[in-house]
Amino acid sequence: MKKTLLTTLSLCLAMVSGFAQENFSIDSLMAKMTLEEKIGQMNQLVGNILTGSISNSGIKAKISAGQVGSILNARGESVAALQKIAVEQTRLGIPLVFGLDVIHGYETCFPIPLAMASSWNLETITEACQVAGQEASRDGIAWTFTPMCDIARDPRWGRIAEGAGEDPYLGGEIAAAQVRGFQGNLDKPTDIAACVKHFALYGAPQAGRDYYTVDMSRQQMFNEYLWPYHAAVKAGALTAMSSFNEFESLPLTCHKYMLQTVLRDIMGFQGMLVTDYAAIREILQHGAAADLKEASVRSANAGVDMDMVAEGFSTTLADAVREGLVDEAIVDRACRRVLELKKKLGLFENPYKYNRPEELELNGSAQNRAVARKMGAQSIVLLKNESEVLPLAPGKKIAVVGPLADLSMEMIGCWAVRPQNHRPVTLLQGLQQRFGAENVKFARGCHVLENEALENQISFHDRKDRGWDIPSDKLRKEALSIAKKSDVIVAAMGELAEMSGEGSSRADITIPEPQRGLLKELVATGKPVVLVVMSGRPLILDWEDENVDGIVYAWHLGSEAGNAIADVLSGDVNPSGRLTVSFPRCVGQIPIHYNHKNTGRPAGDFQPYKKYISLYQDVVNAPLYPFGYGLSYGKVEYSDLKLSSAKAAVGDKLSVSVKLKNPSERDITETVQLYIRDKVGSITRPVKELKGFRQVCVKAGSEMTVELELDSAKLGFYNSELQYVVEPGEFDVMVGPSSDSRSLLRSSFVLE
Ligand code: NOJ
Repeated sequence: MKKTLLTTLSLCLAMVSGFAQENFSIDSLMAKMTLEEKIGQMNQLVGNILTGSISNSGIKAKISAGQVGSILNARGESVAALQKIAVEQTRLGIPLVFGLDVIHGYETCFPIPLAMASSWNLETITEACQVAGQEASRDGIAWTFTPMCDIARDPRWGRIAEGAGEDPYLGGEIAAAQVRGFQGNLDKPTDIAACVKHFALYGAPQAGRDYYTVDMSRQQMFNEYLWPYHAAVKAGALTAMSSFNEFESLPLTCHKYMLQTVLRDIMGFQGMLVTDYAAIREILQHGAAADLKEASVRSANAGVDMDMVAEGFSTTLADAVREGLVDEAIVDRACRRVLELKKKLGLFENPYKYNRPEELELNGSAQNRAVARKMGAQSIVLLKNESEVLPLAPGKKIAVVGPLADLSMEMIGCWAVRPQNHRPVTLLQGLQQRFGAENVKFARGCHVLENEALENQISFHDRKDRGWDIPSDKLRKEALSIAKKSDVIVAAMGELAEMSGEGSSRADITIPEPQRGLLKELVATGKPVVLVVMSGRPLILDWEDENVDGIVYAWHLGSEAGNAIADVLSGDVNPSGRLTVSFPRCVGQIPIHYNHKNTGRPAGDFQPYKKYISLYQDVVNAPLYPFGYGLSYGKVEYSDLKLSSAKAAVGDKLSVSVKLKNPSERDITETVQLYIRDKVGSITRPVKELKGFRQVCVKAGSEMTVELELDSAKLGFYNSELQYVVEPGEFDVMVGPSSDSRSLLRSSFVLE
């Protein structure tokens, strides 16, 4: 009630100050602003990410002095209180815009983005983003720093968890689906601004180490990395974020060619560009500026509109303008973009639009959790199912073993800020609920890591809950004892939530000891073993693939993790997830991706070693599990690949059709994937490129024909002069259930 009054009161104030009047314009507002007030709009300060509050009185003073345009990491009551200061105590009453990383859910927590991508289900991804935006918007948030559009080909990099994987086309489709979900039509109080990040190339650090150097040719960048950012821009994302990394020996935050020429002139981005966290200050560490003033000048001149947290603009830019180091027009342009964002979000009409405490109790509702459960089940990828060990038959005695089987908060994954009130369902709980507690026995078996200090540092749970009070030997014995008495062992192993995500690169990406050791002992019991892997990245599963009966890749699935996994293990849901990243056999294969070049000495994917061919002596070239791969219960058969024509002109759309048959007794959700290969180009082209996909339900025992469109406009690339060209010539067309060459049907056509 108090809040409603506050809202009404402030709405009146906004109207008095003229913002709600029809003739309000950014021009007229800017005409009243001093240089310092304009720079204030370019300044973003930070609250406490855990509590959402701002205790720092200095921040409040800066807001009332008109020196702040935005706050990140504030939530709830503190948003209302700070907005009140901005609207009522500043000279011009310009509202603040509040941002937060709503990456994979707010209170209802969805699977990590890489998991959601594995669903290849754009509709559910959009729905999940809608729910996340709706929940966050009730708590004051008008702007999320999503989608992460960084292509990643290196699973050592922890932030692979936050993106859509290795493919530019699929990455673009998913980024656009996320933008649609969060922004909608920007006509509802639940529609919040999206942010294209991290611009650019942040997903390609050398050696997979976070924040590390990125370098590649501009041609590779245009052809292999920029598409998802571009797709998010085309989908209308209102903001973008410059990345931490350097490229061409220049930090992105002061890289004018990237921020102006590529992002704005080529991609057509017209929104507001914020830096990543304190990135202007980090230019000093990079060694590209001597002090904060120089870093701020370089960033402003490169096209940064808002400084996240570094307080470089707010402390140095006014002097820099007076000294002629930055043109005032640059400040005007940046300020205008910030104000336009606020206008588009409706903050001038109602600064409290995104603050609806009376609706907060709807967050985490059964309805929202149902979306999380659906998204969770669709994100799971079944990697192996020897002798049809899955689905688990009813009435079996199940031994659930593994340190991740009952650690609720570890199910959240790397980037969910507010799930505290809604603890995720664990695998143990999910299985007990589905199969009956009497049939499901649990033993932790071991710790997650051998290194207790590291585990203590990154786990969300007390050391006691993680079994550190019990001798390792005892943990192992308990596990083996219940395993021996069971019909089937479900081993829940992998990574803690904080082993992926920002600042969480790993050099060894196998299942960590002591878990792998325990798994070997479980396999030695001779009982069937289903391994459920919880992880934020592809792990190396070479031993597991050879020795375990079933492998279910369950990522970190969020609030409904345990139920979603139980849905798949029980067969209530037929698994349909397909990988969006290649799973290497060993770290030495990294970087690994399906859309590689042929080389002058090409090798078959599984070809054994031969000297002077592009091969390894000790491992085949093929990944363990390829891009696009995933099993279901039952298998769809592909036949009769047909093209509408063997010839096409540039601008034509070809129709590609294929027959699907499901001889099994279960309905299967199949993702039909369309790849092309441009046989000869003015520059070399990849051996395969995804150009389309369709997800269909093939009913048990039925046949159907699926059509996909192949638009010749999509066949182009950036040539040596960095011009986008569609070159005539012969193209292979490949259609099938994954990028694995052995599974694809082939045809070809000539583009004239
Ligand atoms: C740093 C991260 O790189 C970025 O993804 C995030 O949006 C900002 N911090 C704000 O939290």
